[in-house]
Amino acid sequence: MSELHAPILDWYAAHARDLPWRHPDASPWSVLVSEVMLQQTPVSRVLPAHDAWLQRWPTPAALAADAPGDAVRMWGRLGYPRRALRLHAAALAMTERHGGEVPSTYDELRALPGIGDYTASAVLSFAFGQARPVLDTNVRRVHWRTLRGAEFPPDAVRAHERRDAAYLLPDDDATAATWSVAVMELGALVCTARDPRCGACPVAELCAWRAEGHPPHDGPPRRG
Ligand code: ADE
Repeated sequence: MSELHAPILDWYAAHARDLPWRHPDASPWSVLVSEVMLQQTPVSRVLPAHDAWLQRWPTPAALAADAPGDAVRMWGRLGYPRRALRLHAAALAMTERHGGEVPSTYDELRALPGIGDYTASAVLSFAFGQARPVLDTNVRRVHWRTLRGAEFPPDAVRAHERRDAAYLLPDDDATAATWSVAVMELGALVCTARDPRCGACPVAELCAWRAEGHPPHDGPPRRG
């Protein structure tokens, strides 16, 4: 049990945004679509697109029955439309291999077109309640700042970050999933890349980065 847990979980319970893919009855497909959309598009623009997508294609099988071009058209202005083609290809694969459902193991998810480590871990955690570290940029920023007193480097996730994340993950599956989304939300709303709101942060007193005076990543030594 880390001393970060209770303050961050309590903060999340009080401040989390009500997003459809976080509802307890959200399907794994809804979670998967949300994670693919959120990778390069802000929540405010994902919300209506996600809703329209799920209305039209409530299951992977439904999407697989339509043409890839329909997926691209529906993707609209979300940007990086190749993501729509990958979702369509993943839906076809799920229809062929998994009865039109989202699979619930890491290896099966990773074997789908366009599903990388982050998306597979997020789906297992948020849709299937499995205790798995989920490392996106918001989570990495919070981990680096609070634990290491530094900004995260712009390169690939390092081995020690996976160890930090595994160490911080609560043992209980349900709490682990809430923990991951709570850290993500803290990074999105409070511990932001620019203008972090330390005055609103539930772990400001425990934060190594704040104690160090907010050093920039690889910046020049602070003077004075
Ligand atoms: N909730 C679950 N996953 C999320 C994400 N990637 N971004 C914002 N909120 C989320």
